[in-house]
Amino acid sequence: MLQFKISDSEFDLFKAFIYEHAGISLSDEKKSLVTSRLGKRLRHHSLSTFDEYYNLVMSSMQSGERQIAVDLLTTNETYFFREPKHFDFLEKEILSNWSGGKTFHLWSAASSTGEEAYSIAMLLDHALGSHPWQIFGSDISTRVIKTAQSGHYQQNRIEGIPKDFLHKYCLKGMDEYEGSLLVKKQLRQNVRFGQVNLKRPLGNVGPFDVIFLRNVLIYFDFETKRKVIKQLVEKLRPGGHFFIGHSETLKGIDVGLEAVIPAVYRKK
Ligand SMILES: C[S@@+](CC[C@H](N)C(=O)[O-])C[C@H]1O[C@@H](n2cnc3c(N)ncnc32)[C@H](O)[C@@H]1O
Repeated sequence: MLQFKISDSEFDLFKAFIYEHAGISLSDEKKSLVTSRLGKRLRHHSLSTFDEYYNLVMSSMQSGERQIAVDLLTTNETYFFREPKHFDFLEKEILSNWSGGKTFHLWSAASSTGEEAYSIAMLLDHALGSHPWQIFGSDISTRVIKTAQSGHYQQNRIEGIPKDFLHKYCLKGMDEYEGSLLVKKQLRQNVRFGQVNLKRPLGNVGPFDVIFLRNVLIYFDFETKRKVIKQLVEKLRPGGHFFIGHSETLKGIDVGLEAVIPAVYRKK
């Protein structure tokens, strides 16, 4: 199969594109990743250079191709019950103190294919009993949102799901669906997914009692990170909790959050 080569100036064009569009800073080490991911699109359109593909992506008639390029340039790795300490904290320190009546609202921002949102949904259903709750999951990539909306996963993705939750909240695929699982409707009906670009104004969402913003800040430079967090914190209720990934930091970002445990903050 024909292998494409990307020149430094072509790589810089895509670097600028994804930074401007999504706030993602691509390091030079990502050159081969960009070549292989976008190379598929050159082949698809029978193009021979990345310059030509860039012009196609930027042409006003091709917003569909622009979204495909964004989908390909984002990294969507995720899994069920990732960073389990967060789920312990959510259950023991937040949900166990939740008093009934009003709906508990949680936002899984940058939810990728939905495993994070459904892990939280299992915990909310388990811990809140009949108290109402709603989860909003969002991502910049429409490809991952589609998977999230389906709630349908390959069996090899289920490793982190506790056994009792697996039985209570997931259906095992049979016949043509053998080897897959479907999150039950009782959870899916309380989890809504939509496209949100965290780099742009957030629009009319919230307020939320909890926001998860995990494993996406690593792709942003300091200024983008500050802006993204500032506008998300505005969507959090006073006293609400803000979760980031354990490998991420809010150092130097003063937006009215106080640290509670590693990677969990509370809005003052
Ligand atoms: C590594 S995944 C993290 C998924 C999940 N939160 C977790 O911790 O497992 C990062 C996600 O951030 C999304 N993303 C990147 N830039 C974004 C932006 N500007 N707005 C919204 N989502 C973005 C990507 O599409 C990707 O699905």
